[in-house]
Formats: sequence, structure tokens, C-alpha cells
Amino acid sequence: MGGTPSLPQVPLTTDRVVLVTGGNTGIGYETSKWIAMMGARVIIACRSEERAKNAIEKMQKEFEEEKAKGTAGICSKERLDVEFMALDLASLNSVENFIETFKSKETKLHLLLCNAGIAMHPLEYTEDGFEIMFQVNYLGHFLLVTKLLPIMLDSGEDCRIVLVSSEAYLTSSFDLEKAQGKHHTKENFKRLQYYGNSKLYQIMQMYCLNRRLQKTNVTVNSIHPGIVDTEINRSFSDLGMWKVFFQISKLIGKTKNPFEGAKTLINAAVNPDFKDTRDAYYSDMRIQQANSLARNQEKQEALWKYSLDCLQKYLKPEDIDKIEKL
Ligand SMILES: NC(=O)c1ccc[n+]([C@@H]2O[C@H](COP(=O)([O-])OP(=O)(O)OC[C@H]3O[C@@H](n4cnc5c(N)ncnc54)[C@H](OP(=O)(O)O)[C@@H]3O)[C@@H](O)[C@H]2O)c1
Repeated sequence: MGGTPSLPQVPLTTDRVVLVTGGNTGIGYETSKWIAMMGARVIIACRSEERAKNAIEKMQKEFEEEKAKGTAGICSKERLDVEFMALDLASLNSVENFIETFKSKETKLHLLLCNAGIAMHPLEYTEDGFEIMFQVNYLGHFLLVTKLLPIMLDSGEDCRIVLVSSEAYLTSSFDLEKAQGKHHTKENFKRLQYYGNSKLYQIMQMYCLNRRLQKTNVTVNSIHPGIVDTEINRSFSDLGMWKVFFQISKLIGKTKNPFEGAKTLINAAVNPDFKDTRDAYYSDMRIQQANSLARNQEKQEALWKYSLDCLQKYLKPEDIDKIEKL
């Protein structure tokens, strides 16, 4: 692609169905747009219909600009195939409704990109009673993945799940008894550590899923996109120190724009070289080994069990059996 040399030039036909959570802005927006421009059908799962519709219009406009520039590797169709479906990960009922809507409209799912997220949010609990970063970044996606897996297993070869984690996982601690931050007050809540925890859980979930999916057509990988200049700082705009950190990073050229930030995700999602890759943690386009905490199998399985317990109301024994008995 002109101006995008390190993106794989892979034509994706419209029969490839791609789901991107948080596809209306930032890394998710760029990922959705470029994968749609490669020709795939993309569903952006977002909270706000208005923001999603505006994003879809913007994608179409930018697609036409790329076509006019003669950018290589993009499809020749008139309109991008991008659709909005409502999803609020802070509500497990909304996740359930999303799954029902998705199943009523789609019979295949080839790429599931769990990208939506919030960072360093103040202590807050969702309507389901979970710490909000735990639910939005991790548990809501856990439910989505578990319920959509049967469709992916039935969607033919090279189906991929990519979990958008963060290097912030290195700040995490693992203590499931404290996973909901209930022992903290709003004042002493460790916002970075709990963000890191949610991102650690995603990497651990990747290992748990791959153990169960290793004989199947579905692979699971995770990424860190780098420090990217997006709207991610919305939930920590009150934290002066982090505002300064982002501003300095930007000034010294350490932040990426959303397109550069999206490249690691796009590569993990569509690069044919990674077709059979599992358990990779891609940081800035390169595969790195996750730390020993993330790789601790006993802790991974404890988290798996804890997550299933959290989702008791939403996952029937047969939903779990479908994965455990593969
Ligand atoms: N930017 C970075 O430097 C950086 C670094 C490491 C990792 N990441 C990770 O990259 C991912 C994308 O972040 P970004 O930088 O692109 O941030 P962003 O611009 O703030 O985008 C986040 C996306 O998540 C969506 N979202 C937030 N809460 C949601 C909810 N309850 N239900 C459904 N969707 C929700 C947002 O939707 P709304 O527009 O409706 O809020 C938005 O579409 C996140 O998982 C983040 O942790 C980012």
C-alpha cells in the first residue's frame, strides 16, 4: 500500500467477517478501516450509534481518498462493507444482546479483535458489580469470546482472535481476592495497577484459550500497540502526571498516530505469515515473550475459573463444555 509499506498486502474478500470492538475511534477505527479497505466485511461493536455512524462515513471518505491516490492493496468496490452493532462492555446484558443480534445476522466469524478499552479509570463499579476496567477490558470480552467461539469454530480455516493488551500489564499484581479493588477507597485506588491487571488477564486468557483450541482452526494472540495518541486518556485526564507523560512522549516523538498504532493489530489479524501462530504477544510488531507472571499456568487456570464464576449467570454448562471438550 502506498505510504503503508509495512502493512501486509492481503486481499480479503467480503466473505471474511471481522468483528472489532471499539471500532469507532483510535486504534480500533484505523484497524477496522484498513481491514475493510482490504475487502472484508467489518462489524464495529460500539456504545454509541451516532459515533459509529460518523466513523463509518469518515472511513468511506478516507477510502475514496486512498483510491484516488492509487494506494496499492485496497479493494476496488464502491462502498466499504462496515456495519455498526451496539455493544457496551460495561453491561453484561448488553454483551448478551449483542451476541443475539450478531447471531441473528451472521453465520460466520473469522476475526474477532478485542480492542475496546479504558485506561487508568477511577474506581467505579459496573451495573454487574465488577470493577469497571476489569469488566470492560477483560470480563466483557471473555463473555463475548466464549459465546462467539462456536461460530468461529464453524467458520473454516485461519480464524483468529486478537486481544489488545498493553505493556501496562508489567505493572500488575495477581491476587484474585483483590481483583475487584473492594479493599480500596476512591482515593487510594491504584488506577495504573488495576489497568495493568486487566491487561495481564487478557494475556493469561490467551494462554488458557490456546490450550483448549490447539487442535482447532482458531488461534489466539495478544498485542501491545505502543504508546498511541488516541482518546485513551479520556478516563485519566484528571491525572496531571500522566497528561505530562503523554505530552512529553509526543514532543519527543515517542507516540504513534492511530494508524501506526493499529499496524501491530492489523498484522496479527491478517498477515498470512502468522496464520498458525498462537500464544504470541506482539509488541510494536515484534513477538516478545510475556513475563513469567503472565505465563504462570496455575495462575492462568485460577483466573479462568474465577472468570467462569463471575459469568455464572450468563454461561450455561453447555457453553463451557463446548470449549472444555474440544
Ligand atoms: N493508546 C495507547 O497508548 C494504548 C497503549 C496500550 C494499549 N492500548 C489499548 O488499545 C485499545 C484501544 O485503545 P485506543 O488507544 O484506541 O483508545 P480510544 O481511542 O479511547 O478507543 C477506545 C475504544 O474503546 C471503546 N470503549 C470504551 N469503553 C467501552 C465500553 N464500555 N463498551 C464498548 N466499547 C467501549 C471506546 O468507545 P467510545 O468511543 O464509545 O468511548 C473506543 O471505541 C485499548 O484496549 C487500550 O487499552 C492503548
